[in-house]
Amino acid sequence: MDSIIVTGNGPLNGQIPIAGAKNACLTLMPATLLSEEPLTLTNAPRLSDIKTMTTLLQSLGAEVSQLQDGRVLALSSHRLDNHVADYDIVRKMRASILVLGPMLARHGHAVVSLPGGCAIGARPVDLHLKALQALGAVLELKEGYVHASAPQGLRGAAVEFPFVSVGATENALMAATLARGTTVLKNAAREPEIVDLAHCLRRMGAEIEGEGTQTITIQGVDQLGGATHPVVADRIELGTYMLAPAICGGEVELIGGRIDLVGAFCEKLDAAGISVSETAKGLKVNRKNGRVRAVDVVTSPFPGFPTDLQAQMMALMCTAEGVSVLEERIFENRFMHAPELMRMGARIEVHGGTATVTGVEHLKGAPVMATDLRASVSLILAGLAAEGETIVNRVYHLDRGYERVEEKLSNVGAKIERISGQ
Ligand code: UD1
Repeated sequence: MDSIIVTGNGPLNGQIPIAGAKNACLTLMPATLLSEEPLTLTNAPRLSDIKTMTTLLQSLGAEVSQLQDGRVLALSSHRLDNHVADYDIVRKMRASILVLGPMLARHGHAVVSLPGGCAIGARPVDLHLKALQALGAVLELKEGYVHASAPQGLRGAAVEFPFVSVGATENALMAATLARGTTVLKNAAREPEIVDLAHCLRRMGAEIEGEGTQTITIQGVDQLGGATHPVVADRIELGTYMLAPAICGGEVELIGGRIDLVGAFCEKLDAAGISVSETAKGLKVNRKNGRVRAVDVVTSPFPGFPTDLQAQMMALMCTAEGVSVLEERIFENRFMHAPELMRMGARIEVHGGTATVTGVEHLKGAPVMATDLRASVSLILAGLAAEGETIVNRVYHLDRGYERVEEKLSNVGAKIERISGQ
């Protein structure tokens, strides 16, 4: 298993390019299952989660080729010879459940393994299933698999989500594009990845209104065509790298960054004393001398503060002046980075979904363990600001969601290297 060694090395300066969004790409790829025509995704990120989705789609009979060094994905589902998404692939990645809606909508049946447990809480898929049932799907759970059928096809319906779910909104949105009649999704997720999916589906011929608001209306069509679509920039990668100069000083320009993707996060950076400005190519983050100020954070669905940036923000708060309270409202058990940060000298108390961080002047390097994707990168950020050497073990989590992290950070002056494990 690979490890990453980070040594605190002072301020960072330069540019970091932001890749296409992992979470957008993971919902755009299954959209291929809705059409016989080819779907081409440009600006795709090169990540292991994308490889897992590729393997899953190929197992269903879709063709997926990587062009331009993986930056472009050419997908085609003109022939699907298998309708079973196997446990061995699905268990590796929860987003695999996103093949259910499209397969069911186009073929009238699908069998998908339940994703199972996950390090950041129970994360059930009941909302996905209820939404598809509302569209007329008949579901049966057998031996860990969801057997879904809609022999007469899906039909439009009003679906009101009891709380916001990104994945359930995506599954229902894709399924509704081929349902007979009108579907109205209420209390829908408003994340930029949903907006990106709607744009791509519209390019494929879908009739959708209201993406980016709480109510999305879809008029079902008989079939969808092909399209070429650029994946939206990754707001979580963007926010993560914005925190690098925030934590160790300097000035870094994030190429391809957009303020509308990280509004709530930027407000917190501003309150902490970090300056963010728009440039012709993206966003520039600047931290002058002196400690950042402690700020409180509550995670919530978009446009609120993203749960996927909570661990990284905690790393910043570890060396802030004052006491910061971070409340995690989306996932239970999402503070596994806290004990690792404490190994580096951070002062953190966790009670249920609330972490109280008392800033210290300096963190100290230590061997730490990555527990999930965002936790891993928070340890790297902390390592950038720490005195001495931090060794982050189990970095396979990191490779699921961050493309060439050591290259991007060393290009702006960080001392970071990957050590290949046996
Ligand atoms: C997506 C993102 C993930 C991000 C999360 C919240 C992808 C691939 N992943 O995950 O990075 O952290 O949004 O922004 O896009 N829930 C249920 N039943 C369901 C579905 C969800 O109870 O059927 C709960 C979850 O356990 C969680 C909350 O709803 O507590 C929100 O989850 P959801 O928005 O669905 O997250 P994902 O789509 O899984």
